[in-house]
Amino acid sequence: MSFRKDILMTDQQTPQTFPPNESFVENARYDASLLERGKDHEAYWAETAREVLTWDTDFTQTLDWSDAPFAQWFVGGKLNAAYNALDRHVEAGRGDRVAIYFEGEPGDSRTYTYADLTREVKKAANAFASLGVRQGDRVAVYLPMIPEAVITMLACARLGAAHSVVFGGFSPDALRQRIDDAEAKLVVTADGSYRRGQPTRLKPAVDEALAKGTHTVQNVVVVKRNGEDVPFNAETDLWWHDVVDTASEEHTAEAFDAENPLFILYTSGTTGKPKGILHTTGGYLVQGAQTFRHTFDLKEETDVFWCTADVGWVTGHSYVTYAPLVNGATQVMYEGTPDTPHKGRWWEIVQKHRVSILYTAPTAIRTFMKWGEEIPAQYDLSSLRLLGSVGESINPEAWLWYHRVIGGGRCPIVDTWWQTETGAQMLTPLPGVHALKPGSAQQPVPGVDIDVVDEMGDPLPNGQAGFLVIRRPWPSMLRGIWGDPERFKKTYWSRFENMYFAGDGAKRDEDGDIWLLGRVDDVMNVSGHRLSSTEIESALVGHPYVAEAAVIGAADETTGEAVVAFVMLQDEGEQALAGGEDVEATLRAHVGKEIGPIAKPRNVLVTPELPKTRSGKIMRRLLKDVAEGREIGDTMTLADPTVMQQIAADMRAGRGGKA
Ligand code: PRX
Repeated sequence: MSFRKDILMTDQQTPQTFPPNESFVENARYDASLLERGKDHEAYWAETAREVLTWDTDFTQTLDWSDAPFAQWFVGGKLNAAYNALDRHVEAGRGDRVAIYFEGEPGDSRTYTYADLTREVKKAANAFASLGVRQGDRVAVYLPMIPEAVITMLACARLGAAHSVVFGGFSPDALRQRIDDAEAKLVVTADGSYRRGQPTRLKPAVDEALAKGTHTVQNVVVVKRNGEDVPFNAETDLWWHDVVDTASEEHTAEAFDAENPLFILYTSGTTGKPKGILHTTGGYLVQGAQTFRHTFDLKEETDVFWCTADVGWVTGHSYVTYAPLVNGATQVMYEGTPDTPHKGRWWEIVQKHRVSILYTAPTAIRTFMKWGEEIPAQYDLSSLRLLGSVGESINPEAWLWYHRVIGGGRCPIVDTWWQTETGAQMLTPLPGVHALKPGSAQQPVPGVDIDVVDEMGDPLPNGQAGFLVIRRPWPSMLRGIWGDPERFKKTYWSRFENMYFAGDGAKRDEDGDIWLLGRVDDVMNVSGHRLSSTEIESALVGHPYVAEAAVIGAADETTGEAVVAFVMLQDEGEQALAGGEDVEATLRAHVGKEIGPIAKPRNVLVTPELPKTRSGKIMRRLLKDVAEGREIGDTMTLADPTVMQQIAADMRAGRGGKA
C-alpha cells in the first residue's frame, strides 16, 4: 500500500522535515532523557506520578495488571483531583496567577485567578453536597463553554462524584440516554448560550429529556447565562446563583482512592449505543499533566494556552479542565464560533491575550484556509510559539498553512494522536527533540508502548500498513465501559491477544515515525489492494480545487469495494465548475496521479457541505449508506441533519457518475 505521497510532492521547495526550533532545544536533553527513562515503563510513571501530583497518601504499587484488561494504577494512593488543580497552587502562593481568561461570544469577558477559581469550586462543592451529591454518585453536566462548566466538573471531582458531561449540542434524547445509563442524581445546565450572535436555549432540552418516564435525577441546577425565559420546575430546579453564590467558601477536599471514578464520557462506537468511557483519578491526571508539560513545552509562568475544544469532548476534559490547571497554567476559554461576530475572532483573541500555545483541530484549520490568509494577517499573532493539532490526521496542506500563516514559520506543530479511551496524548513529536514531519504523529509519548501489527498481531516492519495497538497498559487508559465489562473486553482487547486495539490503521516510515491512516473501519479493500480513506482524502485536499473531502469504501460487485469521494470545493474549484470544467474527472485523475490508478474514486460527488458531528467529525458511515443506496442511518449527532438529505438527493440524481 502506498501512502500520502502528497506530503512529499506538494512543493519541491518545501522541506520534508522541520528540525527542532532553536528556542526549544534547551529542553531537548531533558525530553530525550524522558523518552529514555520511559522505557522503564512502571518506574517512569511512578516517578512522574510523584513529581506532577500532590498525594495525600503515597501509593504502594504502581500498576496492578493481574486482572487484565482491568488495570489499577497507583494502588493504595489517595488524592483529590480538585486539590491538585486548585488549592495547592494557592497554598504555594500562586493564587494571583490567572487560571482562566474567559471570552463570551457576545463580547463579555471574565478573568479567574487560581484563588477565584478555588473559591468558586469550593462553593459549588458545598452547594452540590447540600443537594445530596456524595462520593460515587454521578452528575450530568449539560452546559455551554462557560467557566461554570469547569467549576462544576471540579466541584464533582472535589466530592468524589463522577461527572458525565454531555455536549450542549446533543439532543434531549441523547441527553436522556446518557442520564439513564449513568443514573445521574443531579443535572447542571444553563438557561442557554449564544450561537452565531443569537441567544439559544438549553434548559428546555433538559426538561424534555426528563419529561418521559421515571429517572434518577433529583435536582437540576441552572446557570443564568443569557437570561432567556425558560420553564422552571419549583420542586426540582434551582438557580446556580441561589445555591452556589450563597454557599460557604470553606471546603476541605477529602482524599479519594487513585482509582475513584473521575468521569464518564460517552463516545460513539461502531454499533448504535454510545459507550460510557470510564476514567479514574490518579492515572488520568498523571498522564494528562505530564503530556501537557512536555508536548507543549510548558513555561507555566509565561505561557498562555488556548485549547479550542469544547468541554463536551475528551480534549476539553483533559486539556481544558484538568491538565492545564493541574500544572498551574494560564488558559483562554472561548464560548463561541470562530466566525462570530467576524471571521477574525480567534485571531483577535490570540492577540488580546497574547496566546502562546494554540491547540486545535485540522477541520478548523481547513476552514480558516478556505476563508483566506488575509484574515489572520490582520492580527498580531507574534505571541504564538507552539501549535497543536488533534482529532484526525492533519493533511500536509493544512499543516504547512498552519505553520506558515498562523505560526509565522517559527512555531513547531505537534500533531497529537489519542482517543477518548486513552484519556491523554499517546503519539506526538516532542518539539525540542523530533524533526517534525507534516502529517505524521510520529512517536509514542514517553512511557507508552505503541506498535503497528498485521492481521495476526505480529509486528510489521517499517513501510507496511497495519493496525495500531498499545502493548502495555498506560496510566490514563479507560478503566472500562460504564456498566458493560464484556463490551470493554470485546471492543478493545479481543482483536489481538494482550494488546489494546485502537481501531486505527497506521504505518511506520523508514525512520520509524508513525503515520495514522484513518479508522480501520474506513480502510478499503479495492481489488485486493488495501487503501486508506485518509490517504485519498489527503490527496484530494492537496488539489487546489478542494477545501474538504470525505472518502468511503462502498460495496462494489467487481472490485469488492469502490472508492467514493465527497468533496467541498474552494473558490477556484467553484469557478472551474462554473466555467464548464469536468471537475470530477480532474479530481479522479489527480488521485490517480498522487497515489496510483487503483485509488481513483469511482464517484466524486461535489457537495456544498459534509455531514459532520457537532465536534466536526465527518460521519462517513452516513456517506456509506448513501453510496450503497441504503436508507440513511441515524443523523441525530449531526450538526446539520439536512446536509444528508441534500447529498442523498444529489446522488440519486446521478451526479458524481462513474468514471
Ligand atoms: O481515528 C483517530 C482520530 O480520532 C479517534 C479518536 O476520536 P475521539 O475519541 O473522538 O478523540 C479525539 C480527540 C483525542 C482516533 O481513533 N484521531 C485523533 N487524533 C488524531 C487522530 N487521527 C490521526 N491523527 C491524530 N492526531
